Amino acid sequence: MRRAGPEDLKKVVEIEQASFRFPWSFYLFLRELENPASRFFVWEEAEAVVGYACYWVVADEAYLANIALDPSWRRQGFGRRLLEGSLGRLAKEGVTQVVLEVRRGNGAALSLYRSLGFKVVGKRPRHYEDGEDAWVMRLRLKEVFHDRSGDYREAYGKP
Ligand SMILES: CC(C)(COP(=O)(O)OP(=O)(O)OC[C@H]1O[C@@H](n2cnc3c(N)ncnc32)[C@H](O)[C@@H]1OP(=O)(O)O)[C@@H](O)C(=O)NCCC(=O)NCCS
Repeated sequence: MRRAGPEDLKKVVEIEQASFRFPWSFYLFLRELENPASRFFVWEEAEAVVGYACYWVVADEAYLANIALDPSWRRQGFGRRLLEGSLGRLAKEGVTQVVLEVRRGNGAALSLYRSLGFKVVGKRPRHYEDGEDAWVMRLRLKEVFHDRSGDYREAYGKP
């Protein structure tokens, strides 16, 4: 895992378009590279970008704005490793909690977030363009990193 650069955007946009009905544009990703609040990470396998995660950091809170894995690289544990790796980096720079929104019907993402200790803390009715509700989830990194277990699932228990 490493920070994203301009050379990654072509592949990132391809993955984005294969992953979402309302994908971010090339220019939105380009802005992420320039936004000082943004933490934009990519995951590489066999020297190719196979996934990315993009957060916005304000004070000690991060918002997970976007995450996706190349469809042909899913279900092999890379989404989890990308999240764990990026959360670890954020914790090191002083982030203590991470918030995200996830579509009510996105079972794969919900299950991934739950397995890392995210908890549903609210609902935004009709949040998405097509009227689907969003669950708001939060992970308190402080509890995870300071309880000496050093492992999310150990800290919170399996979902
Ligand atoms: C969500 C996503 C990032 C997961 O990436 P991934 O690399 O496939 O995930 P992993 O292989 O690391 O799986 C980790 C856990 O996620 C859950 N999960 C992943 N895919 C799943 C699926 N199709 N169905 C149910 N659970 C799933 C499981 O809990 C899994 O743990 P397990 O393998 O021990 O059962 C990927 O499915 C994706 O890119 N989806 C499209 C974009 C998206 O929805 N992003 C989230 C927006 S909020």
